[in-house]
Amino acid sequence: MELRSVEELMDLLHAGRGTRHAADGGGGPVDVHDHALQTAALLRRSHPADKELQVAGLVHGIGRLLRPGDATAHAQLPPHLVGPLLGHRVSRLGRLHSAGRQDPYDADDALSLRQACDAGRAAGLHAGVLEDWRTVVELVAAQNSRLGAVD
Ligand SMILES: [Fe+2]
Repeated sequence: MELRSVEELMDLLHAGRGTRHAADGGGGPVDVHDHALQTAALLRRSHPADKELQVAGLVHGIGRLLRPGDATAHAQLPPHLVGPLLGHRVSRLGRLHSAGRQDPYDADDALSLRQACDAGRAAGLHAGVLEDWRTVVELVAAQNSRLGAVD
């Protein structure tokens, strides 16, 4: 599967509202939608200039929405799900954060995402709304489309 538009991505994230999926990396179940917003908000605070990293935080957990019955998987971002839309780096960061950090490329940023992922699972914490992210996601998608990058 591959997300072909920002609209498809936003729809998938919306679909995470009210879900309770096994947390990636430990801890109790998380609402995929709330976890995405909290992770992205933490990365916006720690890395205000790095929109790709923020968007990677927003999308890193959406693989679980494609496998709703799979409670045991350490959720990974499936290859090719967001790469064609958002670019190689976003896709790679989303996978690296849960795959360990053997690869030195982007290791610091993958660690930042991992830390935001660990912290971004507070029940009831309001971290804005998904619509706040639309322009940022569109910007990253537009940059990727200009570069012609694929994952
Ligand atoms: Fe996460």
